[in-house]
Amino acid sequence: MDVESERVRIIGIAGTPGTGKSSVAEALARKLGWKVVSVNDLAEEAGAIIGYDEERGCHVVDVEKLRRHGKEKKLENVIVEGHLAHYLDVDVLVVLRCKPTVLEERLKKKRWSPEKIRENVEAEILDIITQEAYNLRGWKRAYEIDTTNKNPEEVAEIVFRLIEGKREEGDYELGSVSWEEEFEALTLAQSHRVDEVGNKK
Ligand SMILES: Nc1ncnc2c1ncn2[C@@H]1O[C@H](COP(=O)(O)OP(=O)(O)OP(=O)(O)O)[C@@H](O)[C@H]1O
Ligand SMILES: [Mg+2]
Repeated sequence: MDVESERVRIIGIAGTPGTGKSSVAEALARKLGWKVVSVNDLAEEAGAIIGYDEERGCHVVDVEKLRRHGKEKKLENVIVEGHLAHYLDVDVLVVLRCKPTVLEERLKKKRWSPEKIRENVEAEILDIITQEAYNLRGWKRAYEIDTTNKNPEEVAEIVFRLIEGKREEGDYELGSVSWEEEFEALTLAQSHRVDEVGNKK
């Protein structure tokens, strides 16, 4: 087996805004002595920003142009982080996840508008990034980590171990995180609130 072809040169960190991509990338970069490159900066450099999505509060990016630019740069010992990181050809992709109610709190702390928060919490509930990542398959290896009860250093440590191949079969598999139960509990609570209001009439 060609060992050289298995060398990890680029790690991609994707995830809904607020899942901790930048914090984890910094912690991991310190651990590996690597550089962090933000996908937004790459997109800007590539001239791939084609607009602004007011609702989601993010740039609209020509992802094919972004991917081509990333490839041409022949990045090495680099962590690329951003919510479009899964569009780049990376050796290892990590999708960060966060329980929707906790994500909402993290985004409130960023002082985002209620619309922007709702849009992104919904995207997290619907596993949007995971599904896109799964369909794109530009990665050689892909994992998914629930960051809800972990600090960025702990998440970086998990990524480090995954890169070294230290995991049990099925651990941190892409698609292993689901908020279905959380979501059901949430909608149930909301329908109760509607009932209470209704009863007061
Ligand atoms: N594992 C974690 N546990 C608790 N809080 C975290 C964790 N990771 C990040 N945070 C906090 O959540 C907020 C969002 O983190 P961060 O900015 O790293 O996310 P991001 O995914 O890079 O977001 P964006 O897409 O907006 O750049 C920050 O306030 C950070 O301190
Ligand atoms: Mg960030």
